[in-house]
Amino acid sequence: MSHQALLKDKLPPEKLSRLPKGFEVIGDIAIIYIPQSLDDEKYLIAQALVSHRKDVNIVLRKINKLAGTQRVGDFEILLGNRTTTLHRENDCVFHVDLKKAYFSGKLAYERNRIVQMVNDGEDILVLFCGVGPFLIPIAKKKNASIVGLDSNADACEYFRINAELNKIDADIILGDAGSICSLFKRKFDRIVMPAPYGQDYFLNLASSLLKPEGAVHFYTFKKDFEISHFKKLLEKKRWIIDFYRNCGGVAPRVSRYGFDLRQR
Ligand SMILES: C[S@@+](CC[C@H](N)C(=O)[O-])C[C@H]1O[C@@H](n2cnc3c(N)ncnc32)[C@H](O)[C@@H]1O
Repeated sequence: MSHQALLKDKLPPEKLSRLPKGFEVIGDIAIIYIPQSLDDEKYLIAQALVSHRKDVNIVLRKINKLAGTQRVGDFEILLGNRTTTLHRENDCVFHVDLKKAYFSGKLAYERNRIVQMVNDGEDILVLFCGVGPFLIPIAKKKNASIVGLDSNADACEYFRINAELNKIDADIILGDAGSICSLFKRKFDRIVMPAPYGQDYFLNLASSLLKPEGAVHFYTFKKDFEISHFKKLLEKKRWIIDFYRNCGGVAPRVSRYGFDLRQR
């Protein structure tokens, strides 16, 4: 049921129309956006959500858009007393602290799609790995050697906790994706790159770390009309596009796109 439908009997239609329809649930935490003009109703809104969703114990209000390179959000706690939770996805469990490291469940399908493509014995690098949602299911289901890199120390620490929780081995590196060429002397069969907004240039670095038949899974944010130009740009840079898909909207008219690429 949408957030608006939940509050149909509690708020007048004019106020209801100012609320977004959806909200995200991570573990037992619901994340909602409430505009400032509905400040007086914020607890009523949070309470309505909890009374309908028995799996939700905490309600966080998103204050700012995800900020900075670490994409960590600022939250006001409306109900409950923590920003940590355990989230289950793709048969794995993730301990997350939403105030310290980015996490969203919206890419769960995409992460599982990558797992299905991995062959046993592969060497895999995940740049911008966060708390491990791309890597951990691969390590759990395939016999692959995996390395994750992130510049947020808290994300790396939670990744370590999650590797233990899921009983997998992972090489977790705290570092900047800009220095991968000097960090790694070896090459990889597969590189996964959920690149931050507007930072497509990181793709150029990947080609030097890729084995000849290696694959890159590259994520970028684009408006629909920008895709045909972006595809031409990839081809010009000698990337073969095996497949691409819209992985869902992130802002009005902007979506995250995933591209499966190989070097020509
Ligand atoms: C959008 S999050 C993706 C996290 C994770 N892959 C996921 O799907 O949940 C982007 C991540 O990239 C990291 N990051 C941003 N800029 C970076 C850089 N230059 N080098 C390494 N990591 C970076 C952030 O700390 C953040 O954890």
